[in-house]
Amino acid sequence: MAEIIDGKAISAQIKDECKEKVAKLKAEGKEVCLAVIQVGNDPASSVYVGNKKKACEYIGAKSLAYELKEETTNEELLELIDKLNNDDSVNGILVQLPLPKHLNEDEVLKRINPDKDVDGFHPVNVGRLSIGEKGFVSCTPAGIIQLLKRSNVDIEGKECVVIGRSNIVGKPMAILMLRENATVTICHSRTKDLKEVTKRADILIVAIGKPKMIDASYVKEGAVVIDVGIHRVDPNSKKLCGDVDYDSVEPIASKITPVPGGVGPMTIAMLMNNLVNSVE
Ligand code: GUN
Repeated sequence: MAEIIDGKAISAQIKDECKEKVAKLKAEGKEVCLAVIQVGNDPASSVYVGNKKKACEYIGAKSLAYELKEETTNEELLELIDKLNNDDSVNGILVQLPLPKHLNEDEVLKRINPDKDVDGFHPVNVGRLSIGEKGFVSCTPAGIIQLLKRSNVDIEGKECVVIGRSNIVGKPMAILMLRENATVTICHSRTKDLKEVTKRADILIVAIGKPKMIDASYVKEGAVVIDVGIHRVDPNSKKLCGDVDYDSVEPIASKITPVPGGVGPMTIAMLMNNLVNSVE
């Protein structure tokens, strides 16, 4: 039986800490403000953006919502980013992804002032992370570090295997675990014998994007298992599952994150944490 790592409770704790910090900043006359830009009306993005606004409200930060029409041009979007970069009352800027296909995501993300890049996607922040300088860290992997630390998981010297090599999760995750002195391996779709590698892991972080792919045959007895995936069990159901086959893995893991209620809630909590840090 694994101990469940409660992302809902830990994210609530972090948001409460942010709330306290915002109150202190306010007492010093400093406002905290996040600008969120959404282009088009993808329903999933609208839900995420709504949750980000709610979280700002909760911690006492101001949020500015820019809901731009689907046909917005690259130039118009860059102009808005320039305006927000130059606005001293805006601390954080976030462009909700994915952008409509006619827009140049790379160019847009690079236009955000790195010191307002609360998503941590700008190459300057990725560079800062990789050489151990202070900067904004991508929220999901930063949240996983908090889940581990606040659940008293020792990281130093442990074998950590990350499955997935995306710029947003897998790669920054590996760098963060390295910074915590883990021995880190990154696996991906071309890894030859995935099971052979994952079975070495004391800490297994799964961000593979395939529902329930990782069952007990991939996991060492007593491992800590972190599941980044989130999928509908079937298209007509509201029931969610992760990349890990929870029922198969839970009996042999020592600690495990559930889906929902594990990694998911941490992303917004860490966004709020980045936002507060952008002022402090
Ligand atoms: N779309 C899905 N997740 C994210 C995220 O963390 N940040 C942004 N900007 N867009 C997203």
